Amino acid sequence: MRKYLLAIISTLLLAAPSFAKDKKVTVSLFTDYNIGDTLKVFGSTGMELKSAYAVIDTMPGNKYNKMLHVFTTTTGCYVEVPLPEGMTGTTASANYDRVSAIINVPQGQKNCLGKKLVIYYGSKKASETAVTLTEGKGTTVTVSQTKVSAPYDKAIRIGLASATNSNYYIDNIYLVTKDYGYDYTVKEETARYWADMIGKSIGVCVNPDQLNDARVGQTIYRNFNLVVGENAMKFDATEGSRNNFNFNQGDQIVNWALKHNMAVRGHTLAWHSQTSQWVHNTEYSKEEMFAILKNHIFKVVGHWKGKIREWDVVNECLAENVGRGVGQGYQLRSADESVWYRRCGEAFIDSAFVWAHQADPDAILYLNDYNIGHWGNGHYENGKTHAIYNLAKRLKDSGIPIHGVGMQMHTSISGLQVDQIEETVKQFAAIGLKCIITELDMPGSKPSSDAEQKTQATKYAGLASIICRYDNAPSMVVWGIADNRSWLDDSEKSKPLLFTGEFEAKPSYISTRDMFRTQAERITGIEDIEDDGTFIEEPEFVDVYSLAGVKIYSNISRNEVESLPAGLYIVGGKKVLVK
Ligand code: XIL
Repeated sequence: MRKYLLAIISTLLLAAPSFAKDKKVTVSLFTDYNIGDTLKVFGSTGMELKSAYAVIDTMPGNKYNKMLHVFTTTTGCYVEVPLPEGMTGTTASANYDRVSAIINVPQGQKNCLGKKLVIYYGSKKASETAVTLTEGKGTTVTVSQTKVSAPYDKAIRIGLASATNSNYYIDNIYLVTKDYGYDYTVKEETARYWADMIGKSIGVCVNPDQLNDARVGQTIYRNFNLVVGENAMKFDATEGSRNNFNFNQGDQIVNWALKHNMAVRGHTLAWHSQTSQWVHNTEYSKEEMFAILKNHIFKVVGHWKGKIREWDVVNECLAENVGRGVGQGYQLRSADESVWYRRCGEAFIDSAFVWAHQADPDAILYLNDYNIGHWGNGHYENGKTHAIYNLAKRLKDSGIPIHGVGMQMHTSISGLQVDQIEETVKQFAAIGLKCIITELDMPGSKPSSDAEQKTQATKYAGLASIICRYDNAPSMVVWGIADNRSWLDDSEKSKPLLFTGEFEAKPSYISTRDMFRTQAERITGIEDIEDDGTFIEEPEFVDVYSLAGVKIYSNISRNEVESLPAGLYIVGGKKVLVK
């Protein structure tokens, strides 16, 4: 009997998120040491100082509580205290934004007053912050720290700057940070985990510099399984002068994404905006413009062949405010606005898809636009929704390799109508095209109230529900990782996204995550067929269905099931998870 990779999903009761509490981890209370143990002391240049020393001691009048007694000589004497198991200076400073400690200044040690508390990891300084201390008394001080990079020391160095030739006590050293409302290092608490489980994508746009920032990078790869360059793969970023390609920014994103097992969207090949100036500067002939576009597409798509799952081939090619209706054509963005349309005519669209397909036959190709997703009558977006439908249908009917449309979904909390999006998705399913969410942001009022943010959470979950339930809607992508990192003006106030500026998961994230989780639990109520006594015989060849019941493979050998793309399928009436 074939062994399949099957999963039984346990119902996890996740604690309701609470936001922005402090979370602490203990570095040392010095209780584990013996009186008289010594710790090393380092100077500000990172050299060990033999003249100064630090010893585990009790304080007069407090003989049960062990503390660290520091005896300084020169201006910078910093005691090295080991970090908790598994932590390095890099992770400690990336994951905890503050350090807290008790500093006790004995009577007469005036040199310790009015000084700065300094924190190092190895020889890298993470904080130098003035603290207020009182003679003859212990004071709890908390200082902010910045991130340090390698060397990856497993200890923190702490001490008062310029407290020369004096002594003082240190106790209760903690690392402190905000509690982000959920623990994204526990994979079951992330939307990514559940989206992966059901073969759906939850994506975000990124810029290469964000990936090197530990906190931003982790927020991205732990919570999302798809990335798209916000600007890195656009025409002006990749072909700044004719036939002179620069893939550096895009490479950074692609390599990072692959390292973290994420899929990549390519954005975008033929767009009127962010096209290099040289394309506009010369009045190229029609033939030359076609050649330029062809070369661009072949070089760019070819460069990332096999690494980029899907491309926005043509972006924003439709005119706004057109209301013709289904079957009544479409109106393209004007020749004034679009250099491609002006010089090539409509055929630039058809050609772009054909060339992208030739450059990477496995890439999934999308026509992407904004104000799409309102199928019903009587709404300003309705005309454009019908227009993209008419155009996509024309392309598909003419045999052009188009696989779907992308709804950018730069919308608003009040404007978004989830039921209309669902209707749009259904209409595209009926003509065999995918219909995905590619650039979602959902701003509210400025400022957006808590009540409005709750509505936002409900609407995000509504969209996630569509993604979960429709086979032709495999992904949703948000346009920005955090509310303060959005292309929208005043986004800190209108709060359009899934994370706060401090990378706390917002209600919108939690509701989205919960929707993916609920769906995954619902459809993966599966048991290992080897343990299923009722399962006696398996035919050698099987049909494979999607969860929605659409047949995707006919009569394939059972052995092949294991090597299908990761996802959930129905085989022989059973749900099967291929990892
Ligand atoms: C935006 C980026 O977010 C900005 O950083 C850039 O300055 C302009 O472009 N539709 C698209 C995206 O297809 O490429 C746009 O991205 C937003 C609108």
